[in-house]
Amino acid sequence: MKIAMIGTGYVGLVSGVCFSDFGHEVVCVDKDPKKIEMLERGEVPIYEPGLDSLLAKNVEAGRLSFTLDLKEAIDGAEAVFIAVGTPTRRGDGHADLTYVMAAAEEIARAASDYVVVVTKSTVPVGTNRQVKQTIAKANPELDFDVASNPEFLREGAAIDDFMKPDRVVVGVQNDRAAEVMAGIYRPLYLREFPIVTTDLESAEMIKYAANAFLATKITFINEIAALCEKVGADVKQVSKGMGMDGRIGNKFLHAGPGYGGSCFPKDTKALARIGQEHASPMQITEAVIKVNEEVKRRMIDKLLDLCGGSFNGKTVAVLGVTFKPNTDDMRDAPALTIVPALVGGGAKVRACDPQGQHEGEALLPGVNWIEDPYKAAQNADLLVILTEWNEFRALDLKKIANKMTDPKMADLRNVYNVKDAKRAGFTGYESIGREGYAQD
Ligand SMILES: NC(=O)c1ccc[n+]([C@@H]2O[C@H](COP(=O)([O-])OP(=O)(O)OC[C@H]3O[C@@H](n4cnc5c(N)ncnc54)[C@H](O)[C@@H]3O)[C@@H](O)[C@H]2O)c1
Repeated sequence: MKIAMIGTGYVGLVSGVCFSDFGHEVVCVDKDPKKIEMLERGEVPIYEPGLDSLLAKNVEAGRLSFTLDLKEAIDGAEAVFIAVGTPTRRGDGHADLTYVMAAAEEIARAASDYVVVVTKSTVPVGTNRQVKQTIAKANPELDFDVASNPEFLREGAAIDDFMKPDRVVVGVQNDRAAEVMAGIYRPLYLREFPIVTTDLESAEMIKYAANAFLATKITFINEIAALCEKVGADVKQVSKGMGMDGRIGNKFLHAGPGYGGSCFPKDTKALARIGQEHASPMQITEAVIKVNEEVKRRMIDKLLDLCGGSFNGKTVAVLGVTFKPNTDDMRDAPALTIVPALVGGGAKVRACDPQGQHEGEALLPGVNWIEDPYKAAQNADLLVILTEWNEFRALDLKKIANKMTDPKMADLRNVYNVKDAKRAGFTGYESIGREGYAQD
């Protein structure tokens, strides 16, 4: 089948590459000439493990190409996917649909034969119908259908998630569109991955409900962690004991510095807004958004405690700035709250991240970037573990503590424990939802 993919970001590029690996002929389109030039040279504009080799393989096989020209991409395509950004609209929390609607208009102008217009971007309930109206208005002659196909991949594990999904969700209005979608996902269907075929509104809702639920789970354990610190319980033990219950499950139960990233913050806000617009308030989601902000602020208090009440004049080494490991994505990362608080409070901040420097340099002014965590810790007063990259999971803590002026650690991902820190010679250690210590 021939597919056009609009948007070559974290979702569009991975989807396009994976569809071509299914055997389809895929043309990926983006408005950003720099991205298309890089892709044409065989370079991947984002960091996603395994994507470069899969891309090269499918370009080589002649199934995958890149262009700035939507008309060329859409020519002869049975489906055109919209995978553009839907960031938070300034001021009101609603998902900004400017890019989706612009893409719909462009499709209307470029298409001449029957095509299924598939929205992969995360969009509020009702958007697919709006896309349909927009296209029908711009090109009343065009024979087309719309389909909703929200994406559930996780950055850092995106290829595996796309190739071996828990489920694929497809919202359609008729059999003709359902057949095209079934053809596209046939390789997954043959391998018995579940495909949920439903109506447009349910498909759109599934995506928001799933993300809001996961954000709630993380926020719940973060709130339990705060209580654990007060009552002397260990949140790692609590999560383990809770997660073994099959009704609860052990995923998304790791206490940390608050959720961030390209999806949870904006999707929870958009869901809250959808609820308000329909006079059906999403009270749990609204509470989650509020509590998550408090969690991030609580992290700053933890660091302040370890620094004796002021960051002024302190040297702080921050390990990890991306919102999670194995991505270079910094969108809404906790680092964007925590690092400016350190810099603003007068600390000298050194940051170290295996893939985050490029994005981070623009977003975190006043930070000194150092590749090696041991060098970053040299003469520092505080070590902060902010993202649990594998590179930071097995550090020689003794070597680090010996290099530091005042060896104190804020382990905001619970990678180490009090015993590790004491043995290594740290004079203070704080983590999440567990007892820490501070020696005078
Ligand atoms: N990033 C994730 O982990 C993830 C996971 C699931 C769903 N989603 C959803 O997928 C959508 C895309 O997210 P993303 O992270 O890939 O975004 P992104 O910002 O990384 O990529 C969007 C791309 O679309 C391009 N673009 C915008 N308008 C265009 C147009 N008219 N024509 C051609 N290209 C255009 C931009 O230049 C950009 O390269 C969002 O709705 C997001 O919520 C993201």
